[in-house]
Amino acid sequence: MMILVILFVAAATGLVAYYLSAKKNITYWKERGIDGPPIKRPLFNHLDYLLAYEKPSCFTLEEWTKKYGPLYGIYCGFLRILVISDPDMVHEMFIKKFEYFHGRMNTVALGDVDKNPRIHVFNARGARWKRLRTITNPSFSVSSLRRIYPIVEDACNVTTSFLDKAYAKNEAFNIHPYFHELTMDVISRVAMGQKGTLQFQNPDVTLIKNVFLGFGGSKLEHYLYLAPSLSEYTRHIFMAYLAITAAPLRRMINKLEKAVRERIELKERGLGAPAGEPNDFIDIYIDAIDDSIVDGAYKKSGDKVIKRLTEDEIVGQCMIFLLAGFDTTANTLALTCWFLARYPEIQERLIEEVDDVCGDPSKPIGYDQLPELKYADCVMKETLRMHPIAPFAASLPPRVNAWNRRPLATFRLKRALWS
Ligand code: HEM
Ligand SMILES: *[C@@H]1O[C@H](CO)[C@@H](O)[C@H](O)[C@H]1NC(C)=O
Ligand SMILES: *[C@@H]1O[C@H](CO)[C@@H](O)[C@H](O)[C@H]1NC(C)=O
Repeated sequence: MMILVILFVAAATGLVAYYLSAKKNITYWKERGIDGPPIKRPLFNHLDYLLAYEKPSCFTLEEWTKKYGPLYGIYCGFLRILVISDPDMVHEMFIKKFEYFHGRMNTVALGDVDKNPRIHVFNARGARWKRLRTITNPSFSVSSLRRIYPIVEDACNVTTSFLDKAYAKNEAFNIHPYFHELTMDVISRVAMGQKGTLQFQNPDVTLIKNVFLGFGGSKLEHYLYLAPSLSEYTRHIFMAYLAITAAPLRRMINKLEKAVRERIELKERGLGAPAGEPNDFIDIYIDAIDDSIVDGAYKKSGDKVIKRLTEDEIVGQCMIFLLAGFDTTANTLALTCWFLARYPEIQERLIEEVDDVCGDPSKPIGYDQLPELKYADCVMKETLRMHPIAPFAASLPPRVNAWNRRPLATFRLKRALWS
């Protein structure tokens, strides 16, 4: 009985302390003279807005920016976030003070990105990010892009033939799915070892679309924001939840784990691609496998980076290439088409440029013509300017995870901005 009473008193004290700390936390910005939008729901604070499914956070942030200016504070659960949009400040943080902002604003469900084994270049920070990035960079070198060009061309040819069929029906149709098929085909063939085209017969297109639909939609994930500093532990609950509900994200990861494992075993049996002659990104990564990596502290320059990856990181890297290469490119292409349809005079000018640069029937169209297609480049960039894709990737800019035991993002922000 006595023990129960003591436990009860301890729990009650804990809750009161927690409540007071939470209350104090939401005066943090005000105390520093920084304005911000009102809170929607106590404890969760602005989280509901930021993870709202019906209205992506970029629109909410845009509205707040109009109202509160280029610098305001919000609270994502107990995570304190300073939202900035002043170009000079953004430049200061992303470029000049990069040594303080070398991590992205990730979901709390990842825990500590220095420790979580399954982290990729998009989520990593500091020395780990630099290591992963050093391995990834050559994938996008000119020689690598030249090498994969025939695959991209073939995938485009397949899409074109599907589009021709749709066009022949002489009815309006939605072009977006065609680009989803195209980008999935390209990324699967150049990065994941898929042999030949699978357009309109690849079940993974539906799966990956569902992965995107699932992001931010879990209430459990919202609760993790109530104790950001415990996320290194609570993330396991979240992962278990994904497994139990057979969430699309979990199913995608399972597939990638299996693909990577199979490839490693093939290699061990001497049946894989020879070292230095990779078939795709997985081979490049497997050549660099090493499960005993310890990252040091991040320094802006002078670091010698080992070009090594763990098996977990390989799965992570495949995941991010799949996710980042699929939706972004498909949406950009679809939006570009939409604009070209709406502005026929731009379309005419673009056709003229393509005819000029690629019109000579004696010369095959290839990688070399791409830099000459200057107007095409402008059209794409203008599309992205009007409809920024993946703004969340950069719209909450503290590139340091505040829920880490490291100094807080807000503190770092302050130091970087006002020192
Ligand atoms: C039109 C197409 C694309 C758009 C609009 C786009 C957009 C973005 C944005 C806004 C970021 C954040 C940048 C920052 O933090 O400063 C980003 C990062 C990233 N993207 Fe893309 N992306 C596109 C295509 C791709 C493709 C095709 C891949 C891979 C195959 C890819 C892989 C990545 C990776 C790995 C990162 C993290 C880089 C790092 O932190 O070092 N993206 N992307
Ligand atoms: C208040 O904020 C600090 C710093 O972000 C954090 O360590 C603390 O856990 C927060 N309070 C609560 C109740 O989460
Ligand atoms: C794509 O189609 C064009 C035009 O029909 C053709 O010249 C080219 O060889 C095709 N590319 C591939 C990789 O099959």
